[in-house]
Amino acid sequence: MTDTTHPVQAARYLFDSDTDLGAQQLVLLEELLDEPTFRFLDTLPLAPGGRALDLGAGGGSVARRLASRTGPGGEVVAVDLATDHLPETDGITLHRHDVRDGLPVAGPFDLIHARLLLMHLPERLALLRTLVGALAPGGHLVLGEMSARPNRVLTAPTADDRRLFERVQRIAHEVVTPSRGASFHWAHEAYGALLDAGLNPVYSEEFSRTTAGGSPACRLHRNYVLQATPLLLAEGLTRSELDRYGELMLDPGFRAWFYQFVLVRGRKAG
Ligand SMILES: C[S@@+](CC[C@H](N)C(=O)[O-])C[C@H]1O[C@@H](n2cnc3c(N)ncnc32)[C@H](O)[C@@H]1O
Repeated sequence: MTDTTHPVQAARYLFDSDTDLGAQQLVLLEELLDEPTFRFLDTLPLAPGGRALDLGAGGGSVARRLASRTGPGGEVVAVDLATDHLPETDGITLHRHDVRDGLPVAGPFDLIHARLLLMHLPERLALLRTLVGALAPGGHLVLGEMSARPNRVLTAPTADDRRLFERVQRIAHEVVTPSRGASFHWAHEAYGALLDAGLNPVYSEEFSRTTAGGSPACRLHRNYVLQATPLLLAEGLTRSELDRYGELMLDPGFRAWFYQFVLVRGRKAG
């Protein structure tokens, strides 16, 4: 494994996959998003002997899925700021690397995938151009991103709980997330950006679900707030509000719509 990260730059990412909470976040994301992601990826060509790239690979489930298709003669390059959760596996080459410095290895790749990475990077358009340049002719770029059209509450134990959920979500999405350069709007801007970058055809799907307290989606909401507690306190939320929010996310009497997960893919001519 190679390591080309810079500690100062790494600190800018809103979360930290090297912590216990960051590791739990990765497990929950795989539980919630692998099914639609695999369904989307499995329709794309990737032959044994092929080459794929997974950026911001997290816990590595997508890299492993891709490696099961590229076979012994192929290669999946998995890149992340944090690689402790990425086991060294046959067919996968790990790079601990900050993608804002470009790619750690040269293309071409038959398939490039990045889930919940570009939304976190203010440099997303420059990275997108780099990724298109690294695609093989006929290769596909696949992005998975979260959109935060209001996660509408369906039931809550009390009216105060409903208002608390809405307030925490609003501050998290409209104040804290943008202050770190992350964007929930990017999910629905990506389609046009892929077209502008020269990919054609471009195709997108949106996946959304309801969730209840205690489910993986609500536990992910809770995890995000635990990781971002200092930032949320700095924006005026109180410790007791955050504690109540944490309880609510484990209460089956709370139900709401979860984020929209948007998948988009584009093909390079050739
Ligand atoms: C929200 S997690 C998503 C993980 C995985 N793609 C998934 O969906 O399950 C974002 C991942 O991108 C990594 N990451 C964030 N900024 C990065 C950067 N500048 N370069 C490389 N990896 C980065 C984080 O360490 C984290 O593992």
